[in-house]
Amino acid sequence: MTPYIGTATSRVDGPAKVTGKAKYAGEFNVSGLAYGTVVESTIAKGRIVRIDTSEALQVAGVLDVLTHENRPRMASTNKAWKDDVAPEQGSPFRPLYDEKIMFSGQPVALVLAEEWEVACYAASLVRIEYEKQAFVTDLHQQRDQAFVVEKPDKAHGHADAAFAAADVRHEAEYFIPTEHHNPMELFASTVVWDGDGKLTVYDKTQGVQNVQRYLCGVFEKKAEDVRVMSPYVGGAFGSGLRPQYQVVLAALAALALQRSVRLVLTRQQMYGLGYRPATIERLALGANADGTLDAITHEAIAVTSEFEDFSRNDTGWAALLYKSANAKYVHRLARLDVPTSCDMRAPGAATGVYALESAMDELAVALKLDPVELKLRCYSDRDQNEDVPYTSKALAECYRQAAEAFGWHGRKPDPRSMRDGSELVGWGMATGVWEALQVPMAARIGLTSNGHAEVSCAATDIGTGTYTIMAQVAADMLGLPIENISIKLGDSTLPQAPVEGGSWMAASACHAVAATAEEVRKELLALAKTMKGSPLIDAKLEDVVLADGKIVSKRDESRAVSIADAMRNGAIDRIEKEKINGFPEDSSHARNAHSAVFAEVKVDEQLSVIRVTRIVTAIAAGRILNTKTAHSQIMGGVVWGIGMALHEETVYDHRFGRIMNANIAEYHVPVNADVHDIKVIFVDEPDDIINPLGIKGLGEIGIVGVAAAIANAVYHATGKRVRDLPITLDKLQGYLSRSSSRRRSLLIGRAPSRP
Ligand code: MOS
Repeated sequence: MTPYIGTATSRVDGPAKVTGKAKYAGEFNVSGLAYGTVVESTIAKGRIVRIDTSEALQVAGVLDVLTHENRPRMASTNKAWKDDVAPEQGSPFRPLYDEKIMFSGQPVALVLAEEWEVACYAASLVRIEYEKQAFVTDLHQQRDQAFVVEKPDKAHGHADAAFAAADVRHEAEYFIPTEHHNPMELFASTVVWDGDGKLTVYDKTQGVQNVQRYLCGVFEKKAEDVRVMSPYVGGAFGSGLRPQYQVVLAALAALALQRSVRLVLTRQQMYGLGYRPATIERLALGANADGTLDAITHEAIAVTSEFEDFSRNDTGWAALLYKSANAKYVHRLARLDVPTSCDMRAPGAATGVYALESAMDELAVALKLDPVELKLRCYSDRDQNEDVPYTSKALAECYRQAAEAFGWHGRKPDPRSMRDGSELVGWGMATGVWEALQVPMAARIGLTSNGHAEVSCAATDIGTGTYTIMAQVAADMLGLPIENISIKLGDSTLPQAPVEGGSWMAASACHAVAATAEEVRKELLALAKTMKGSPLIDAKLEDVVLADGKIVSKRDESRAVSIADAMRNGAIDRIEKEKINGFPEDSSHARNAHSAVFAEVKVDEQLSVIRVTRIVTAIAAGRILNTKTAHSQIMGGVVWGIGMALHEETVYDHRFGRIMNANIAEYHVPVNADVHDIKVIFVDEPDDIINPLGIKGLGEIGIVGVAAAIANAVYHATGKRVRDLPITLDKLQGYLSRSSSRRRSLLIGRAPSRP
């Protein structure tokens, strides 16, 4: 039997998804469902003085309006409100807790009705008086008040002095605006009232056990009284790592009404949740004339809320990539009157590496060196934060293979030196890096004598392909066709699993399945040995494999016992095993995934329109379990990188502290017309140190470096370095040809202004 691991296996959950059989949190139906609608604050900071719900309550079909004044009891300690992924510092947000307003868009009332439309209408009749307070929502205004947060990055040497003495210097500030999550599926919870205060909660989340523990904390409930389910997730990318407020409100409503309740946020309300924090990044790079680095300073200032300190690592990536005797990293947080920022695909790296790789490109220009050549001269074989080697690092091979596939050798180094008709052509590149994490996780396998296995655990598949890779590993380890494997996920009562995030699920889940499959094999071998005249009587566990529905000796394939015979002999028709797999603590090596991203842009000289016509990305992420789902993951990351470079930006009106583009018409993301040719290469990277199967995971690496590669290509095309994302047309205006401004004016119907 050929192995499934490593093949382009189609999603095992694909048919359920395309036929609509896969149900999402807002789609589970039970009888007697009530519907909720959230009323949000219109001010950014202050307190509620009065809420008048009388008019709303008079609407036929309205069941109740919950506010901080009449809601059921919720826990009062920070500890009870902290979920597994909550920041250490601060107080998690508590919806409808008290009269305090901490951000615009904060939920202030929950209208409950027999019909969703009735609830929405009644919500428009809730009258609220506020007492306003002064607020700040602009990072630039608050940057000087930012405070330092401790990070694992270690300074070494004397970066400032080395920078001052360097032959060639580059210093600049880069900016990434706030970006909001726009997964296709809205945040939703359907809470089923099971009677007696017991709840079954269908929730959009990346971690059912996290939400289960959180709800038990908030509502002071026993573990067995709350079950959380999330079998399918329509995209989450970090937004579903922490429980979101709608699950609290839906549960609160179910407890208040003693009835099942559904609450689905609107797209606009999704902008009241977490987001990728706006970040100011300062890079100072000092190089020797030979193109080796001598000084790296990377400082970041990122947004968090007034009430909680969320941050990720923006600044330490240079220490993983580039050799430098002197380095300094500082991460600061600025408090604004907004919700707490949160994880978004490759949090910290997507932003920090954008800045680092833009700066490296600028340094290459200053050194008159090809950027790939600069990166090879500075290439680090060691993680300089911890001063350890890597379990594996095929980054040099990524550069080589991506450059070759892209045709990089044909690049003319000077900006504006390549064109295609009326378009300027730019070629840029960048490096990507992410962590290869792995965490303890359990799996249960139930194998029946007819050769069918059910593999289950509480993990969620957020669309990455977890169902499929678990089925592949189970099929290989149990020696069964993949059609005989069924995977059950997303139920808090199943064996222990962490939230799905950080790109750790592939390694964690697959090793859990492999470890549990070994227990199954052990039991089957024991059964086979008790058979009269057993051909495996002397076989040791490590000498046998499960293949083609049999327990087979590795030394002699003719020595085999079928699973059915072994079970029949033991008078059983099912084996069930559950095991937690851990990974040994080992700080002797750094574990990272890497990429090299090459981008081509074409910029219309007349209109400044930027098209990303080609991307080639080469990924080194250990063993690729499924080349098809892996390819899709990386493509998705690249597309998001295009959005980060050219489109995405949450726009605030700082006079009101409100988001002005809280919808996907005006919050721009790439559409099909923005996505052209994307080539994904997986570089061979055997790794027998990191874990037995050599898995690194690749949920996040796909986006890292993409925005920088595009920004560098835009510079190469136009000669204009845009450091604040997104690179919109207006930022190139006045920079392209002189005729272009005249043409632009004509196009918008105005006479050209005279110089
Ligand atoms: Mo990922 S940002 O950990 O879902």
